Amino acid sequence: MGRRARHGCVLALFCALVIACIAQSQAPVKQLTKGQVVQLLTGDVPAKRIQTLAVEHGIDFQITPGTEQELRKAGADDALISVLTQLAPKAPLLIVTTVPGGAEVLIDGKLVGVTIATGELRISTLQPGGHYVLLTKKGYYDRGKDIDLKGGETLTISEKLLATPPGSDTGSHANVSGTPSNSEPTIIVPDESVAAELYRRKCAGCHGSMGQGRVGPSLQNASLGEKEIADLLVKGSSGKKAPHGKPIAGLSLGDARGIAIYVETLHK
Ligand code: HEC
Repeated sequence: MGRRARHGCVLALFCALVIACIAQSQAPVKQLTKGQVVQLLTGDVPAKRIQTLAVEHGIDFQITPGTEQELRKAGADDALISVLTQLAPKAPLLIVTTVPGGAEVLIDGKLVGVTIATGELRISTLQPGGHYVLLTKKGYYDRGKDIDLKGGETLTISEKLLATPPGSDTGSHANVSGTPSNSEPTIIVPDESVAAELYRRKCAGCHGSMGQGRVGPSLQNASLGEKEIADLLVKGSSGKKAPHGKPIAGLSLGDARGIAIYVETLHK
């Protein structure tokens, strides 16, 4: 067999393999990843054939300058780049609205902006996929949310922020009126998503994200009721090991109740 023919054989085999792989993972229609396109290019699959494959399957990545460079290095020509650019999913648009406005918006732990007075923030720089959005404003409970962005789609999330009770450590409006209040404090019990966020920040490190237990015991079948748990958190219990010999710092009674209710939902 000649060198050329052998080369052709290897090529055909490689193509068949890659195409078989793509076809196999096709459930229902699997888009090409950047890695696959690079693989096809470096495997000497003709750019024309890759174009056809890309049109048939679609692609799941965006053509940023960096991606373009990478593809060109792997052997992509202008025609292929232009086809891929047309096929690329448009960047998703995320619109965040908060009531009240003026909340900082963190995505995957990075500050991306602040919602304006009417409460809106538009973010068009995110990649499709899963992200974690955290909304924070002084005097209000943090609010966290997992989102799933799809290319070309607009996702709007609107969240009403819950004020922290006056006098709690994060509250900023405790003394706005300047008049000391001697009426009974109102106990605000945060709703489940806020309580879950508090649990994640204050308890999950020791008790596990699902209450399965780590350095602290499992809470999935704790014998304590909701009221006892809230009590344990705000008062501590002298017989208990750290940190529960003392009150948990920075928790209002409302927070503690919210967390206790949340802990109950972790029960198996
Ligand atoms: C620094 C680690 C740590 C943190 C943070 C922590 N715990 Fe604990 N927790 C423990 C340990 C250790 C025990 C066992 C104490 C003992 O039995 O003496 C415990 C016990 C408990 C118990 C009693 C379980 C039982 O079955 O008797 C509850 C309920 C509980 N924790 C809830 C919480 C909640 C809710 C939070 C968050 C506000 C929290 N803990 C934060 C370590 C921790």
